[in-house]
Amino acid sequence: MTSNSDFPADFLWGAATASYQIEGAVTEGGRTPSIWDTFSHTPGRTVNGDTGDVACDHYHRMGEDVALMAKLGLKAYRFSTSWSRIQPHGRGPVSPDGIDFYSRLVDELLEQGIQPWITLYHWDLPQELEDAGGWPNRDTAERFGEYAALTQAALGDRVKHWITLNEPWCTAYLGYGNGHHAPGRTDPVDALAAAHHLNLGHGLAVRALRTDADARIGLTLNLHSLLPHTESPADLDAVRRIDGVGNRVFLDPVLRGAYPEDVAADVAHLTDLEFVRPGDLAVTSAPLDFLGVNYYSRQVVSGPSGSGETDSHSGAWPGSEQVEFHRRGLPVTQMGWEIDPEGLTALLRRVHQEYGPIPLYITENGAAYADEIGADGAVADPERIDYIGRHLAEVAGMIGEGIPLAGYFAWSLLDNFEWAWGYEKRFGLVHVDYTTQVRTPKASASWYADVIQANSLIT
Ligand code: NOJ
Repeated sequence: MTSNSDFPADFLWGAATASYQIEGAVTEGGRTPSIWDTFSHTPGRTVNGDTGDVACDHYHRMGEDVALMAKLGLKAYRFSTSWSRIQPHGRGPVSPDGIDFYSRLVDELLEQGIQPWITLYHWDLPQELEDAGGWPNRDTAERFGEYAALTQAALGDRVKHWITLNEPWCTAYLGYGNGHHAPGRTDPVDALAAAHHLNLGHGLAVRALRTDADARIGLTLNLHSLLPHTESPADLDAVRRIDGVGNRVFLDPVLRGAYPEDVAADVAHLTDLEFVRPGDLAVTSAPLDFLGVNYYSRQVVSGPSGSGETDSHSGAWPGSEQVEFHRRGLPVTQMGWEIDPEGLTALLRRVHQEYGPIPLYITENGAAYADEIGADGAVADPERIDYIGRHLAEVAGMIGEGIPLAGYFAWSLLDNFEWAWGYEKRFGLVHVDYTTQVRTPKASASWYADVIQANSLIT
């Protein structure tokens, strides 16, 4: 490090996407519907009724997209495999066409010198497994372990970096708690059972992936960076509760082999956690090679005060229903999320101190803006450059203070299907015209390429 704007020589620069958000081709190659196909086709579930039917048509444009990555100078590309494309029934045999698609993608990446990082589950559960009970059903965890083994058997000769789950908080609580995400169920006990079975599925996948001694295996969490609204005992307790059900419920079984007792007490009126069986925590805590953290914003919470917001979060925090969320009036992105780069440092410092040492990667960070192609054919997105630049400055600072932060993946390579928000929210470094499928790198793409090239924020 020659200045605090520089990065270590082996710092891993990447970008990320997810299968349902970009692939399209939902009925091709033997793929069966996932819960997101069903959900997005249910009236009222997504903005404008948008679906991932076509998305960025990446399934057919993969070569062009890898060429874009090469132009950016990416060292790594984080993508997810669609379970129902690889193993259409969620159990049983793989689809040769599904495997072939990812196999070609991996080969193209390697040809360009880009490391493939596979996320095995980025929210698109095969619908058949949901019909059998979904994540609240223990069998789904077993099925996930099997799917991990099959995917590795097909791609593990070339893929060495694996992320089991992406943001299990979202799957458990938005999928089964408040129903904002697929499959749209709303039962707090199901949400908690889902959380446990996701942790269990993660552990079973790690066990399967470890059969390759060279595999580097991690988990990606959307950890919540929290501040109390005031220093009052009620507000500090709100932080404890949200940290418990939002962060420690995923960190502790994986990195400490136990569930936090205070969370068990917070949810005791809902469940005695009978779905946690003897021996499970030995599975969930299989050693990991890294932890991936997705960070976008920080949240300010309080106890019941009447001045905060509960609505959009109700059901998403089992056992913490009384907690309120407060805005500070900071500038926001198109998602309405407050921009707070320092929240990233506060979060990772804490993770490193309390759960380390473990190598950390930022597996997602980025911002949505209503980008448009200008009269000159270019997309000017200075806010995104500012957003990513400020977060990267925090990354450089953390590395300087000894936090083992080994890489950064921008979210996202392409504008894509932003789940319940549909196509309205644009997170890409590359603009996608959904009518023509023309890709236009935004100003942030060439800025990011310069940062990667210089390995420094001073380009
Ligand atoms: C997290 C999710 O992993 C990703 O799928 C989503 O698009 C981004 N956050 C932005 O909301």
